[in-house]
Amino acid sequence: MHHLTSEAIHQYAESYTSKEDELLYDLNRQTHLQTALPVMLSGHLQGRFLSMISKMIKPRYVLEIGTFTGYSALCLAEGMHPDGQLITIDNHPEQAAIAKAYFDKSPYKEQINLIVGKAIEVLNYLNYEFDLVFIDADKINYANYFDLVIDRVKSGGYILADNVLYNGEVLDPAQAGKNALAMHQYNQKISLDNRLENVLLPLRDGIMISRKK
Ligand SMILES: C[S@@+](CC[C@H](N)C(=O)[O-])C[C@H]1O[C@@H](n2cnc3c(N)ncnc32)[C@H](O)[C@@H]1O
Repeated sequence: MHHLTSEAIHQYAESYTSKEDELLYDLNRQTHLQTALPVMLSGHLQGRFLSMISKMIKPRYVLEIGTFTGYSALCLAEGMHPDGQLITIDNHPEQAAIAKAYFDKSPYKEQINLIVGKAIEVLNYLNYEFDLVFIDADKINYANYFDLVIDRVKSGGYILADNVLYNGEVLDPAQAGKNALAMHQYNQKISLDNRLENVLLPLRDGIMISRKK
């Protein structure tokens, strides 16, 4: 995946960040061996960040849009309230099968609900109030995902969106490809929404952290 910092800084940051547990390490490795685009996986540093955020919020209901092989879902699950539930959506059955196998090996087996389907269709029937949402699927639909979930995020809840700097391409929207342009438009939309306070964190490929007031 895109790193906006130098590889050396990234490695230094990883070396002073708590290690992944064995299950995550194995999933990271198997994702590299078994999938065509392992760069989609959040990875060690971002994974520990997601875990830390979740431990701060202690969410009861978490929504993830874009499971891939389940790495970030397992990281987000680490901070969940003991009765918490994490719903994660992906439209790719083979990747979802890998995720399911790892969820089943984890302590969160009973708390993670993996739904295979197109996110927009699934979001139309989901009926929860979320404390934490992680948007990490197809970039062109981020704004649609936001619009579909914002009324179902609790006041004081958070929406995180990954890849919002899109390898730095957002700096030049006129030259940006469609995904980078969608990220730039998402950043603009979010920054103008007075229901939110936002921090765009330049971690890895950029994470927009939005808190619903
Ligand atoms: C960047 S990966 C997610 C990575 C994962 N969150 C992690 O950090 O390990 C994006 C995922 O979104 C899924 N996806 C793309 N478009 C989708 C859609 N319309 N509905 C549901 N899932 C979708 C892809 O199949 C892919 O697994």
